[in-house]
Amino acid sequence: MITRHITKRPSKDDKGKKGTPDSLNPSHSGFRKKSIQLKTARGRKKSSQRWLQRQLNDPYVQEAQTRGYRSRAAFKLLEINDRFDLIHPNTIIVDLGAAPGGWSQIAAQIMKDKKGKGHVFALDMLEMDALEGVTFVQGDFLEKENKEKLRALLPGPVDLVISDMAALTTGHSGTDHVRTTILGETAFAFAKEELKSGGHFVAKVFAGGTHKELLDLLKLHFETVKHFKPPASRKESPETYVICLGYRKKN
Ligand SMILES: C[S@@+](CC[C@H](N)C(=O)[O-])C[C@H]1O[C@@H](n2cnc3c(N)ncnc32)[C@H](O)[C@@H]1O
Repeated sequence: MITRHITKRPSKDDKGKKGTPDSLNPSHSGFRKKSIQLKTARGRKKSSQRWLQRQLNDPYVQEAQTRGYRSRAAFKLLEINDRFDLIHPNTIIVDLGAAPGGWSQIAAQIMKDKKGKGHVFALDMLEMDALEGVTFVQGDFLEKENKEKLRALLPGPVDLVISDMAALTTGHSGTDHVRTTILGETAFAFAKEELKSGGHFVAKVFAGGTHKELLDLLKLHFETVKHFKPPASRKESPETYVICLGYRKKN
């Protein structure tokens, strides 16, 4: 795990700008493109060799290390925020499936850089190292008691619920779709309770398959529902994000 902290600071040009400050912008500095050959292939399975080779040569992985981000996934939230301008100085955010903490780290840093008082309430079944501006709950989100623990921490209705939760892949795409859709639906059920009117919801879904019903449901509750696959999301991955803007809260 990468534990260094974000090194980029907002530049003078960032002042007063909406969205992601330029200094955190994924394309701001241009990624290094180093080609690294795996030297220790012996004894490794072909699939793990391929994974390692891809990690070593993935510019997002390299750049995440340079910037001290906890995960390459951090870039996905940067790109989502760049496009949809979701994180403001005082945004109250729930981050589901937060470990190792890339999204929480980015969200808290954006708010800190904007001198805001926003806060992130994060949850994951795995452990996560502490982050400034982030309160963390460890537990399975599908279990009621963990949802209640998270709910009890919230200061009131929240502005933004983001879910990057993904079920461990089984290799059977139908099963993976269903399990990730269930996580998306559960995240939405929580968002429905906790979002303030006009709030936003972002969730990872697997394109195709079972998520149409979820989409139809989301369209009933938000002014705008869009799909967005951030450039940092690997082309070969079925993942995409559903971006739901303007929650229409019913009393
Ligand atoms: C793709 S990772 C999230 C990466 C994170 N957004 C980041 O930027 O570092 C997906 C996470 O979802 C979590 N997850 C999957 N199912 C979960 C569940 N039922 N309850 C809580 N967390 C879950 C996994 O433990 C994993 O850490």
